[in-house]
Amino acid sequence: MLLHIPNILDHAQVSRLRAELDAADWTDGRETVGPQGAKVKRNLQLPDSSPLREELGREVLAALGRHPQYHAATLPLRTLMPRFNRYEGGGQYGFHVDGAVMSLPGGEQLRSDISCTLFLAEPEDYDGGELIISDTYGEHEVKLPAGDIIIYPSSSLHRVAPVTRGARIAAFFWVQSLVRDDAKRRLLFELDTSIQTLTRSQASPDAVLQLTGVYHNLLRQWAES
Ligand code: NI
Repeated sequence: MLLHIPNILDHAQVSRLRAELDAADWTDGRETVGPQGAKVKRNLQLPDSSPLREELGREVLAALGRHPQYHAATLPLRTLMPRFNRYEGGGQYGFHVDGAVMSLPGGEQLRSDISCTLFLAEPEDYDGGELIISDTYGEHEVKLPAGDIIIYPSSSLHRVAPVTRGARIAAFFWVQSLVRDDAKRRLLFELDTSIQTLTRSQASPDAVLQLTGVYHNLLRQWAES
């Protein structure tokens, strides 16, 4: 499921993050990829060990925690502390697939089910930089307002087009979902969305209750940890 969720961060939050990021020390983005990724990746990142990455990453996670639609779509079990990247001067990232298993601090591992990109630069401030996601329905070009997020299956081939003017700044991270299968997650998300709509439209409370039971019992069958 490819899903755009607007306004994860408001304008004030984006401005505050950007002020810190624009003054930060960046490092070569190839630090965090294997040999396949390193051949096609040309960008900058905040170093993984940077205290600023931890501070801003926590702010992003806190903002996500306040968004019920993000939670309903991802059903997160584990989330990688967000990283921050910067593409400029022709920077790009050619077609690749994200690593399947990542290490978390403390020795735990995360299976990447869902890839997330939170845009932190306004689209008119740079040329290029589209996130291009290839799936069975073709190629999707994504370039969102600052503060918006795109989530998509980590199994997808994807790339970032060269940035030919300005700078594209974003946060990116991965989620291991309680529900591994993308098709099942989508069904649960659609069911959840319908239940919320029915609740607001004064549908029969008994029917809403029954559907809510179906939702939780499906989640009970499909959730793994
Ligand atoms: Ni990627």
